[in-house]
Amino acid sequence: MAFKSVAFKSVSLQESASHLVAWYREHRRSLPWRASADPYKIWISEVMLQQTTVTAVIPYYEKFLARFPNVETLAAAKLEDVLEMWAGLGYYSRARALHASALKIAALRFFPKTHSDLLHLPGFGPYTARAVASLAFGEKTGVVDGNVIRVLSRLFDLDVEWWKPAGREVFQKLANELVLSQNPSDLNQGIMELGATVCTPSSPSCLLCPWGKLCLARKNETILKRPVAKPRRKTEFWIWEITVTQSPKRGFLLVKNDYAPFLRGHLVPPGKAKQENSRPKKFDLKGAVTHHEIFVRLKAQTKNQGGRKVEADTAIWVLPQDLKSAIPSSLVRKALDLR
Ligand code: ADE
Repeated sequence: MAFKSVAFKSVSLQESASHLVAWYREHRRSLPWRASADPYKIWISEVMLQQTTVTAVIPYYEKFLARFPNVETLAAAKLEDVLEMWAGLGYYSRARALHASALKIAALRFFPKTHSDLLHLPGFGPYTARAVASLAFGEKTGVVDGNVIRVLSRLFDLDVEWWKPAGREVFQKLANELVLSQNPSDLNQGIMELGATVCTPSSPSCLLCPWGKLCLARKNETILKRPVAKPRRKTEFWIWEITVTQSPKRGFLLVKNDYAPFLRGHLVPPGKAKQENSRPKKFDLKGAVTHHEIFVRLKAQTKNQGGRKVEADTAIWVLPQDLKSAIPSSLVRKALDLR
């Protein structure tokens, strides 16, 4: 990793931080979760914001908060009601963790205040723990997400491999230093806001940027090379042969995927996966998961064949109305619809 220590000397962290916070205070968007420092509200918003954009999150956030206005109401809710309010946001595991953490926090009778305490709760990773600790409780800790990586890579013109733990650490340290001289909530949200509204991935508005004059990537004309591109894995072609079994009463017969290298651990129809050297011509449905291009073939079903054998050990029946919450993959949902 080429690490330019020179870059740090030529950009003062304190000066950068104070420019940014002044800009943020003037230009920040008025967002519902910014109206208070309630850790519960900040937590919910940060988890939702990991799923999608600010604009898409707002209606979900408002609906969720109207139904579960505090930790106690969320803890007392039935998991299925929480999942229902989450429907459409994707990754139901996040909603499950939210509910599990609400139960723990309600039992504690206080909201843990530091990022290291928050890390013990289900679903709190380094980002969420640091975001809640700094935005709600003023802990001087930086947050690192995709926006922060892009903005800091550009400000300091870093060709750091951000996807590796050592690279991530570089950004965490920088973010931690930037926060030291400022209000952590304003500084952290300022970087995120800059990334979302000004320092965008492909056409940043450098003339509007509070860091325009300090930005080393702008000076070195490397803006579009920062952050450095993560090397893409070579595309693999897979035929995925599945047997869809549906019973009028019990729904779809699914298994926890341990046979295909994509969607591992997801609920999928029983079947088999075979790697090909090129794109196959015959298939019923096509999709992609990370670097896997997947060509689904529906195996014709003879009566009761297949299903019953699997059923003995690992099969799970899922009712059509539960498919959305049980199956995040749209490819699998479409495959079930093929029948
Ligand atoms: N993305 C994640 N958290 C955010 C926040 N608090 N404000 C704006 N964008 C965000």
